[in-house]
Amino acid sequence: MILVLKNLLSSTDLASMQEALGPQAPWISGSSSAGGQAAAQKNNQQLAQDSELARTLQQRILQAVQNDPLFFSAALPHKLFNPLFNCYGGDANHYGPHIDGAVLHSRQTGERVRTDLSCTVFLNGPTDYDGGELCIHDTYGMQAIKLPAGQAVLYPGTSLHEVRPVTRGKRLASFFWVQSMVRSDEQRRLLFDLDMNLLKLRQQHGETTETTALTGTYHNLLRMWAET
Ligand code: NI
Repeated sequence: MILVLKNLLSSTDLASMQEALGPQAPWISGSSSAGGQAAAQKNNQQLAQDSELARTLQQRILQAVQNDPLFFSAALPHKLFNPLFNCYGGDANHYGPHIDGAVLHSRQTGERVRTDLSCTVFLNGPTDYDGGELCIHDTYGMQAIKLPAGQAVLYPGTSLHEVRPVTRGKRLASFFWVQSMVRSDEQRRLLFDLDMNLLKLRQQHGETTETTALTGTYHNLLRMWAET
C-alpha cells in the first residue's frame, strides 16, 4: 500500500526547516551511507547525521509523525530509524533504481531496524524544482510521486524505487524507515482498512453494538499478528 500523509508539517515548521537546510548546512555526499548496490546508484547530498542540526530536525520530524493518527494506523510502528535529510540538485541530483537494505543499523541509536516501511517527507514544494519524482515500483505498476511541501508518502520497504534527476532547483526531503509491529504488508493493509471503516461507521452512527464488536475483531487480529 502506498499512502499519502497530508498534514504532517505546518507552514511555520517548513519555513524554519527550509532555512536551516540552506547551503550553509553540513551537507555531505549521500553515498557515504548506502551499502552495495544502492551506493552505486546514489548521487545526492545528505545532512551529516551526527550534526547538531540533524538531531534538532530529527526530533521535529519524529514529533510530527507521532502526532499523526493516520501514520500510526497505517504503519503500526514498533521502531523508527532516525530520520535523515537529503538534497538533490546540481551535480548531485538523482538516486537510481535500488532496494533499501532489509535491516539497517543506526549509528545514532545503536539499534537495528527492519525496514518494513519507508517514509519520505517532502520539505519544499513541487514548483521549487523540476524532476525529482520519487518513483515506486509497486504491485500495480510504477507510481511517480511529487508532493506539496509538508506532505509525506509511506510505502512498503520491499519496493524497488528511485529518485529521478532534479534538472532545476533543489529538492529537500527527510526520509526514514519503520519496523512495524505487523511485518506483513497484507496484514497491515487489512488492519488499516478495518480501522478506517470503523472510524467512518462511528462518525455516521455513533458507537453501536456492531462497532464495538468490530473493534474487538480489530484488536484480536492485531493481537494475533503483532510483535512488540
Ligand atoms: Ni531508498
